[in-house]
Amino acid sequence: MKLDGKVAIVTGAAQGIGLATATAMAETGARVVLVDRNADAVAVAAVTLAARGLTVRHCVADITLPSGNQRVVKETLAAFGRIDILHANAGVAPFRDLLTSTELDIANTIDVNLTGAIHGCAAVLPVMTSQKQGVILLTASIAAFVGDPSVPVYSATKGGLVALCKSLAVRHGPDGIRCNTLCPGDVATTMLEEYLAREPDPAAARREMADRYPLRRLGEPADIAKLAVFLCSDDAAWITGADYLIDGGLTARCY
Ligand SMILES: NC(=O)c1ccc[n+]([C@@H]2O[C@H](COP(=O)([O-])OP(=O)(O)OC[C@H]3O[C@@H](n4cnc5c(N)ncnc54)[C@H](O)[C@@H]3O)[C@@H](O)[C@H]2O)c1
Repeated sequence: MKLDGKVAIVTGAAQGIGLATATAMAETGARVVLVDRNADAVAVAAVTLAARGLTVRHCVADITLPSGNQRVVKETLAAFGRIDILHANAGVAPFRDLLTSTELDIANTIDVNLTGAIHGCAAVLPVMTSQKQGVILLTASIAAFVGDPSVPVYSATKGGLVALCKSLAVRHGPDGIRCNTLCPGDVATTMLEEYLAREPDPAAARREMADRYPLRRLGEPADIAKLAVFLCSDDAAWITGADYLIDGGLTARCY
């Protein structure tokens, strides 16, 4: 299988895109550590996957803290002895423009989406460098490339991940480490449902949103997971410093 023998850490793995990629990675042979700050949900996710015979552990951690990321690395090494993949995926999206964003919204979005990913990379890099092998995948967004009026701070953090990716790819390519970003459009997860729930008619808003996509549907977490598995596998051995739009054609659209 594509990820046989690999050890992967996936953050934000209790639900949504993180859970889908953790599942797909485990199904394709990886041993996976699911990381999330939602203790109950990540435990349930890990138990569910383990009951299917998949090799997983879970770790309750807040990825905004360097200590949280270091503990994830320590527990992964204790369980599996190496780290081949970090999918830094945990994120938050307060849907507010700058006129209505609070200081706390701004700080929290930057902390989780950008600072958290940076701390995650910093924690795994010494291990990957000593192994002379590793893959880092950052979940960015199409919002890194196109304007979305409802998420300016979120967009800034995702643009930051795109820049982080290129810097890490260039610095650590010679160490055998690849780094890429996933840039999804709207994916049917709790994050998106929370956005739609604010609309007067959420079902109509969802239909209108889907209709803007050339492929006439929103993304599913499994769509993103398939690309994540490919980018983390040896099939992508010559891909680094790249941004992968996966958006049902939305950003190709002008009219
Ligand atoms: N859903 C979309 O439409 C969409 C589109 C583009 C990009 N993304 C990105 O994909 C990633 C996953 O999004 P999702 O839609 O699956 O969201 P989600 O809200 O369903 O899941 C996010 C997970 O991250 C966890 N998390 C949040 N902060 C954390 C922290 N400090 N420490 C540890 N865990 C933390 C949450 O507990 C949750 O389980 C995010 O980075 C998001 O920005 C999502």
